[in-house]
Amino acid sequence: MIFKKNNFSSLKLIKYYNYINHNLIYNDKAINRYKKDNFEISEEKSKKLELLKKSIIDLKNCNLKKRAKNIVFCDGNPKSKIMLIGEAPGANEDQEGLPFVGRAGLLLDKMLAAINLDRKKVYISNIINYRPPENRRPTDEEIKRYLPFILKHIEIINPKILVLLGSTAMNALIGKDEVISKMRGKWIEKKFGNCKTSVIITFHPAFLMRQPAQKKMAWVDLKMIRDKKI
Ligand code: URA
Repeated sequence: MIFKKNNFSSLKLIKYYNYINHNLIYNDKAINRYKKDNFEISEEKSKKLELLKKSIIDLKNCNLKKRAKNIVFCDGNPKSKIMLIGEAPGANEDQEGLPFVGRAGLLLDKMLAAINLDRKKVYISNIINYRPPENRRPTDEEIKRYLPFILKHIEIINPKILVLLGSTAMNALIGKDEVISKMRGKWIEKKFGNCKTSVIITFHPAFLMRQPAQKKMAWVDLKMIRDKKI
């Protein structure tokens, strides 16, 4: 009887193992550290984020802000070790007040899914917090105006990995004269105030939609993020 019972549970166990992905459970890839969602942030961090958002809302004489419907401040988990920074909101983002929710956002979600991440597990923001009209590139003057805010934002989030999506984010945060084809796909150790972080630059999803042949390079960058030990 006892034998029969044990036999039955072993069969059940085998069936159960067939349903689950053992590799995800047993491999030691860095990505497994992000399986738990934990959004509870310290009161101090949440206050700092609130103050930062308020200081952007209070910004005077900004032509972008006057025409935009909403501020686009962030999405995702403020406790995440991975922060992504794009360029500026488009029409969908302006409408919803969230970054990367349009077509480029859909591709970004797929890119993250390819390395077992999703937007709830990372933290996403942009160099510019209000939509530039007709989705034009932000001007140098606009980037200069918003730069102190994104620098502060990085310092508050304090990510271990900072992913810069596209050349606007790269030129604003790494160097004005850098070229993305040379800078992508490598780790750059950087300090933003008190935040020491590993930066990686990759192509912007909107660029990848126009140049799908470059997706294979973006995949190289994504795998570097997936495998980074932090
Ligand atoms: N492109 C960006 O750079 N940011 C967004 O939020 C959306 C599209």
